Amino acid sequence: ENPERARLQAGYELADKLYQYILHNTEQGKVAKEYLKQRGIDDKLMEAFGIGYAPDRWDTLVKLLDKNQFPLTLMEQGGLISAKQDGSGYVDKFRDRVMFPIKDWKGQTIAFGGRIMGQGQPKYMNSPESMLFHKSRILYNLHAARPQIRKTQELVLFEGYMDVMRSWDAGVHNGVATMGTALTQEHAEAIRRLAERVIIAYDGDGAGQTAAYKSIPILENAGCQVRVAVLPGGLDPDEFIAKHGSERFVREVVEAAVPSIKYKLLYYRRNYRMQEDGERLRYIQQALRMIAGLVSPIEREHYVKDITSEFRYSFETAMQTVNEIRLQAEKSD
Ligand code: UTP
Ligand code: MN
Ligand code: MN
Ligand code: MN
Ligand code: MN
Repeated sequence: ENPERARLQAGYELADKLYQYILHNTEQGKVAKEYLKQRGIDDKLMEAFGIGYAPDRWDTLVKLLDKNQFPLTLMEQGGLISAKQDGSGYVDKFRDRVMFPIKDWKGQTIAFGGRIMGQGQPKYMNSPESMLFHKSRILYNLHAARPQIRKTQELVLFEGYMDVMRSWDAGVHNGVATMGTALTQEHAEAIRRLAERVIIAYDGDGAGQTAAYKSIPILENAGCQVRVAVLPGGLDPDEFIAKHGSERFVREVVEAAVPSIKYKLLYYRRNYRMQEDGERLRYIQQALRMIAGLVSPIEREHYVKDITSEFRYSFETAMQTVNEIRLQAEKSD
């Protein structure tokens, strides 16, 4: 074990304790607690996720680290504190933010996400990459969700901290988040080692739906079976729960997730004005090209049936088109 790593990790652990202490036991923490309560996070959930508050001061953490003989240069290199512009010392990196500890697979704190209360940029500030924190590998909440993921062989993939916490409260204990960054092959491989199936539950806005579309092949190439939960009205999971409640979230979003192929067929529709004959036909051609690429004949038949019955086209003609596309693809191989 590398001694610098261990030292930095201890620094993150100390910061984690400090931020939680300030949230729960000080006057300054009260506003942050109010903010969290108003977002539907009660004390129990705050404690379960180790949420804290970084006060609106310049050196609360720096002083504590210094008093405990932590090497400040190392803490700065590890992204826990910032160096002053003029080189005369260090200041706290996170100020006046609600703090979400990010943990490794052992449950040790290795980074933070800090949310501003109310408006302002950036909405979330995250710890930078360090010798402890590799964004392309870490999934938020994987440590706590691991037992349920293994047991059910299923993982629910969210975008953000709030989605994971609110859905945990709704009984979804196999949820993790990519924290806004794109899902990587490394994430997918780590997921596959724990579970066979993944439900992507990204935000219902355009960005979230495109990210979901792009994540499908990454997960499937790693060997996962993929379904996608479609959030209505551009809502994200946290907003859906706030608006419609936990039960409807589990029933109408998580359990109603559709197979990846079905999701792709829905996703393509965004590019066509489906009320117009010509556009609809072009959509169907794109859909049939995708279906033609499916390895399983049963699946091909299933989705051709789906689409031709929805739009009242002939199943036989569509199936013939699919077979022609396959023949051509074989020839050009
Ligand atoms: P979103 O923009 O969807 O935020 O980003 P959110 O989680 O719904 O935020 P709330 O509900 O307004 O608090 C999803 C995730 O992307 C990362 C965070 O991990 C966030 O949870 N993100 C987002 C950042 O790292 N930085 C940002 O400025 C914004
Ligand atoms: Mn590195
Ligand atoms: Mn989003
Ligand atoms: Mn969101
Ligand atoms: Mn949100």
